[in-house]
Amino acid sequence: MLSKRLFSPANLRGTVPSDFHFVPDFFSVSEQRTLLSAALERLDAAGNRRFQKKRKYFRSSLNTSASICEAPLSELFLPDDCYEFLQGHYDGVIHKYREMHLTSWPTAEFPGLVPALSRLQSLLPSSNIQTHLLHLASDGEILPHVDNVSASGRWILGVSLGSDRILRLESCANPDEVAEILLPSGSIYIQSDTVRYQYKHSILRNSAFTNGAGQRMSIMIRNKQIRAGHLVIKI
Ligand code: OGA
Ligand code: MN
Repeated sequence: MLSKRLFSPANLRGTVPSDFHFVPDFFSVSEQRTLLSAALERLDAAGNRRFQKKRKYFRSSLNTSASICEAPLSELFLPDDCYEFLQGHYDGVIHKYREMHLTSWPTAEFPGLVPALSRLQSLLPSSNIQTHLLHLASDGEILPHVDNVSASGRWILGVSLGSDRILRLESCANPDEVAEILLPSGSIYIQSDTVRYQYKHSILRNSAFTNGAGQRMSIMIRNKQIRAGHLVIKI
């Protein structure tokens, strides 16, 4: 069920399509910090050695007297040039990003992770899921697309961490039907049925509408079951 009060002129332009569900403040700052640290750890471990060394060198040059627990969330990201962001292929929809298919979370290393993930789990409309991490550079963007209909099913859940970005939804049948939603850090959205199949979505580059121009991590969870299946939307 969509709660209209969750949208205000400050975070919405246009009309929200059916089957778009949104919680602007699902995760606390400490949960966000845990999820973002764990996601960065996984991506960093999978990354290229040269950039691993670069990050190590950068960290060793920092004055690390401030506790990591106190630091603002944005400081968990290192400068853009410490990451090997892909430009995207000439016909690709995602530009300046790194991504991975996540098969397991590093729960042993991050004590707060299990409770945060179990809160997230409680929102999933069905079981049998696949998880991707997507890290956008400060000037990264996602161009309008519909997620491959033969690769995942009726719903897509996105957790946003880091810099605020705008999600733009545009009806495939009527390009004048557009909604722009500001996604703050800690927010969760679900696109199901109508919006999942009949709207294109994009993540805009940083603009004046968003605060700051930093990097963003999204945790994308999709249903592996392609056809039918029972959905229970709990937000
Ligand atoms: C995608 C996508 C949206 C987001 O990975 O296909 O559209 O919120 N991501 O990062
Ligand atoms: Mn997508």
